[in-house]
Parts: sequence; C-alpha cells; structure tokens
Amino acid sequence: MTKAQFQVFSSPELVAQAVASHIAEVVRARPQTVLGLATGKTFVSIYEALVRVGEETGLSFAEASSFNLDEYVGLPVGHPASFRRYMEEHFFRHVDLPADRALLPEAGDDAEAACRAYEAAIAARGGVDVQLLGIGRNGHIGFNEPGSAFDGRTQVARLTPSTIAANTSDFPPGELPPPEAITMGIGTILDAHAVVLVATGAAKAEALARAFLAPMDVDCPASALQQHAHVTVFCDEAAFAGMGPRA
Ligand code: GLP
Repeated sequence: MTKAQFQVFSSPELVAQAVASHIAEVVRARPQTVLGLATGKTFVSIYEALVRVGEETGLSFAEASSFNLDEYVGLPVGHPASFRRYMEEHFFRHVDLPADRALLPEAGDDAEAACRAYEAAIAARGGVDVQLLGIGRNGHIGFNEPGSAFDGRTQVARLTPSTIAANTSDFPPGELPPPEAITMGIGTILDAHAVVLVATGAAKAEALARAFLAPMDVDCPASALQQHAHVTVFCDEAAFAGMGPRA
C-alpha cells in the first residue's frame, strides 16, 4: 500500500501552479535546498510557473543547487534536444541559480567515471532534498526503463523503442533520440528526502495506476516509489482517472 499523498487538480495549468508554489516554498524555507530536476513536456509549464512565482515574490535560488535526473549520451553541446539546452531555456537562464551548481550528467570520454562522479557530487551536497519526477507511459522514471533494478545508481541506460518514439517529437525532423542516456538510478532517486511526481493527461493514467495501485514490480519502475515515505503526486484528473473514485 502506497504512502504517497495525491494532490489532484482539474487542469494541467493548476498542477503547474501548485508544483511551482510548493517548490518556491521549499526554497524559501531553506535557501540551500538541493533540487533534483526533471525534464519532459510535463515540466515546461512547471518551470514557467516557477520562474513567474519567483519573479513575483523575489525568490532567490542563489544558494540552491540542482542535479538533473538524466541526459542523452552523445549529443553535441548545444543540441536543441539536449536536456542541458531544455534546462537553460526553461529555467536556468531565468533564475539566479549559480551555473556551477546546476548540474546534469555529462558522459564525456568516460561515461562510467562520469556516473560515479555524479553520485559523488550529489553526496557532497548532502543528497537531494526534493526530487522532481515525471513518469513515462511505460512507468519509467528518469530513464530507468522497465526491468531496472530498484537499487540502481547513476548509470548508462538503453532507451526502449517506446521511449524513443515518445521523445522523437523533441528532435529536429528526421532525427531520432540517441539510444543511450545517463540517468540517476532508482536507488539514487529513492535516496532523495522527498519526491514530487507530476503526471498530467490521460496518456499517464495507466502508468500512474500501475505505479501506485499494483504491487511493486520492476516492470513498472515508478512503483519503487511505494517504498518511499515522502512522495507527493501532483496530477490532473485525467491522469488520476485510473486511481479509482476520489475520496
Ligand atoms: C522522458 C524523461 C523522463 C520524463 C518522461 C515523461 O523520457 N527522461 O524524465 O519524466 O520522459 O516525459 P513527458 O513529460 O514528456 O511525458
């Protein structure tokens, strides 16, 4: 039985505002917060709302740090579909988070060493305080695809055909996503003190229900979150539809 708390809203816009307000409160209460950040279409409106709430309330990220969940392997610097570029465009360039504390995994010449270094960098900051997560239609979190070990650490992962298909629209016409990415492992994600999972739209309903209603199963990576004591799911009614009638 999951301990996750659900916050259900009537539209994706209201979800975005609620998540943004929550993150803003966390950073206001503890300016040195270590954020775990996510990408994906779901998060575009969340960063937009967070930037807005930050501007309106004079929120500073100057003492915060961030670690993104994942990044493709092998994209040239500045590639329009890289998660680095996404983060710059939607968040980093709009806030005062110092560039040297806004990290994404970078494969470099030695991807295995880069994975170990990423884990060490997270540990050196005292761990992630709040990890933001989206969810893939197949239940993936970060790029931890079905079958990933629940105790996995930051690693190079192979993307499934369904994830490649889902993410192809982020790439220029005629270009496919790379077959590999570096992702925090499920164990890395579970180490975060709190997790905020966001799901909007009917296409996420089945994955959300599998993650939180069915028994934990490596075939649904997000179901690992059932063992975490501090998970809040922010979702719209369409994504919540598979969870049964609302109390
Ligand atoms: C990607 C990312 C995930 C994200 C998921 C859902 O593959 N690696 O971190 O949660 O897809 O993304 P979207 O919000 O675009 O549906």
